[in-house]
Amino acid sequence: ESYQVIILAAGQGKRMKANVNKQFITIGSEPLLAHTIDVFEQDDWCEAIYLVIQPNDRAMIESIVAEKNFSKVRQFVTGGKERQDSVRLGLEAADPSKLTMIHDGARPFVSQEELHRLHKATERTGAAFLAVPVTDTIKQVEGGRVKTLKRSELYAAQTPQAFRYDLIQRAHEWAHNEGIQATDDVQLVELMDQAVEVVEGSYRNMKLTTPEDIQRAENMLQINRHSKQE
Ligand code: CTP
Ligand code: MG
Repeated sequence: ESYQVIILAAGQGKRMKANVNKQFITIGSEPLLAHTIDVFEQDDWCEAIYLVIQPNDRAMIESIVAEKNFSKVRQFVTGGKERQDSVRLGLEAADPSKLTMIHDGARPFVSQEELHRLHKATERTGAAFLAVPVTDTIKQVEGGRVKTLKRSELYAAQTPQAFRYDLIQRAHEWAHNEGIQATDDVQLVELMDQAVEVVEGSYRNMKLTTPEDIQRAENMLQINRHSKQE
């Protein structure tokens, strides 16, 4: 049981409106990205971490990794313009022989138990992702026509998304050559007509996107601390 993870931190965090890349925002006295890396550093099944970053952030991220003694960080990889480019570049740097997870640096609350269930699903199917049932009623609006989608069939996709390396590598090469853009990595595998398994995760595994998310993240960290002390 082992895997490598590509952690994506090469965005700009524009919607966070923070003047710095949101990966550096402090929650519970540490940078957001440090919380995210720590989950994988602590997971015995994780063998190597590839950090996809922007060159401007490199010095800062290197100092976080040094200070926190993150021993599994194997390489810093320069990211691309879109998230999909960053993933492709991360894959090029990673080890082709290992099951590969792809994770947003902005999701610090994924749990080890979720990672292990995801890993097992990926060994079965070749591609799997964490997701939660949607709680809102989702309307599809197309040219003024409104349609209500069947809620029991809808999931909100999270990360990590995990794959056999060759499958996701092929998917990204193909998308790059054909100019296909997807909103997540699993979509590329879907488009290649390959099976994907959904693994039910937790609403706690939120992505920090807007300023409102910071207080919620602080609260969740407090709850984590209390439950660890018990
Ligand atoms: N990401 C990346 N490379 C990009 C764009 C995004 O590595 N070219 C990463 C982000 O750093 C983030 C994750 O992908 O951890 C999810 O993206 P998102 O939440 O959209 O983050 P940002 O793109 O940084 O934020 P925004 O869209 O608000 O600018
Ligand atoms: Mg973005």
